[in-house]
Amino acid sequence: MTIELPHGPKKGESFEVEIERLGTKGVGVATFEALVGPQKEPKRYTLHVRKALPGDRVIATLESKHRRQLTCRVSEILEQSPMRIEPRCSHFGFKHEPGKGCGGCVLQSLDYRHQLLVKEQAVKRYVLAAGLDPGLVWPVIGCDAPWFYRNKMEFSFGNEVKDGPITVGMHPSGYRYDVLGLSECMLESEGSAQLVREIQAWARDEQLRPWAPREGFGFLSTFTVREGKRTGERMVILTTTSAEIAQRSTGEELDPADVAASFLARIEASAVDVTSVYWVQHHARRGEPTRMIEHHLWGEAALREEMHLPGDQRLLFEISPSAFFQPNTLQAEVLYAEALDATGLQTDAASSVLDLYCGTGTIGLCMSPWAERVAGIELNASAVEDARANATRNGITSARFWAGDVGEVLGSPEFVEAFGEPDVVVVDPPRAGLSASARERIIAIGAPRVVYVSCNPETLARDLAELTGEGGYVCERIQPVDMFPHTYHIENVARLRKEA
Ligand SMILES: C[S@@+](CC[C@H](N)C(=O)[O-])C[C@H]1O[C@@H](n2cnc3c(N)ncnc32)[C@H](O)[C@@H]1O
Repeated sequence: MTIELPHGPKKGESFEVEIERLGTKGVGVATFEALVGPQKEPKRYTLHVRKALPGDRVIATLESKHRRQLTCRVSEILEQSPMRIEPRCSHFGFKHEPGKGCGGCVLQSLDYRHQLLVKEQAVKRYVLAAGLDPGLVWPVIGCDAPWFYRNKMEFSFGNEVKDGPITVGMHPSGYRYDVLGLSECMLESEGSAQLVREIQAWARDEQLRPWAPREGFGFLSTFTVREGKRTGERMVILTTTSAEIAQRSTGEELDPADVAASFLARIEASAVDVTSVYWVQHHARRGEPTRMIEHHLWGEAALREEMHLPGDQRLLFEISPSAFFQPNTLQAEVLYAEALDATGLQTDAASSVLDLYCGTGTIGLCMSPWAERVAGIELNASAVEDARANATRNGITSARFWAGDVGEVLGSPEFVEAFGEPDVVVVDPPRAGLSASARERIIAIGAPRVVYVSCNPETLARDLAELTGEGGYVCERIQPVDMFPHTYHIENVARLRKEA
């Protein structure tokens, strides 16, 4: 259908559209053609409508515009998509409704089976766009427990309304500075939600100010809860600025250490079990490197988590406050089992595994029973320390870890001499995917098998095109695994074999 417009779409104007698909970041996408002014040729516009689902007919109001890409919010749902369900959390919904608009799980109103289907389609679109066969993409492996699955949640301090009381919660989707206070959250655990309510009450009792980045003023930044889903342990972290003086909203000045002591007292008084308490000061000053200054206030120094992995392995990991750990422990076990299967290690004899972007070493350690030697490479030096300690803790002597950039370490003669040629290369890069130098090194190594674990299907597709093109690899399968139900994120495991 072509509509007639007196002028190009303007901010604040509304359009009636039907949502065709979900785009990146789980946003509903609709298109329309318009004859603008006296023009004879219609122009095609694409609308990105937050919180709209495929099959919805909505009135979408234009919030911003970049060429013919229009970002909109839903003003009214005229006809609901048949895939819509009643959301479970009371904070789900549109930001203009009181107490709603949480940006934590934007797909919650989409039935879980359909979430998996739209994620599969999204991966296929990226694969096709990169010139590869979308038939390589298998149906998504869903989560058996799609609620309360996260082992880490970071909640922000802020004000729901300007100069209103301090709140603890999440940023509404698309709003970096606003904070929606939460009375419940279905992502981590009821214990975690209870702590959020208690810490909000504490911050109000103490009349503390949230850190306001735009004004460059305030004290409390975030409240983080980390949980061992297999161990039942719980770590809480209060992050503040590194200001030498904290201030109450009344203007009264406080010693930051007294605020931390009062925080600890409130956690100790809580009925929720906590095993470790930290206060972290975020030190960011112009001209100085940004630092996180950790103060261990009480309890265990690290959070312990266990993973149940193939071969009846029970691996125990210690996680320090800032260390990366897969946020969904139970589904990470599924992901790692899939990655292990993709290597073929359990059936084909192989002697050496290279675990690139290894973090705290979890993937390489999980594979160690089937390899004579494992080497992990990781940029973050403290994660490398954790990886070494994790190997020792679990009695694994065949794994070595190297600190540094993947491309650089792979090119260093010391590494090549120490490790030799790998039979299997596993990569698990950050969202940006493989750097050009890492890609070149991996292609030059030419291991018989490469397994690519990815949290971003767009960069995965780009890198697969390179590896299967000039790299001489054949992609056998791309297996999506849903690590984050109710969000648009999707993890993938791609299996590559060197062409004979
Ligand atoms: C998605 S995480 C994967 C961690 C680990 N494989 C796991 O499952 O827990 C990506 C890791 O890559 C690391 N990293 C980022 N850039 C890197 C680089 N250029 N060289 C080496 N490691 C890098 C990050 O510090 C992070 O630990």
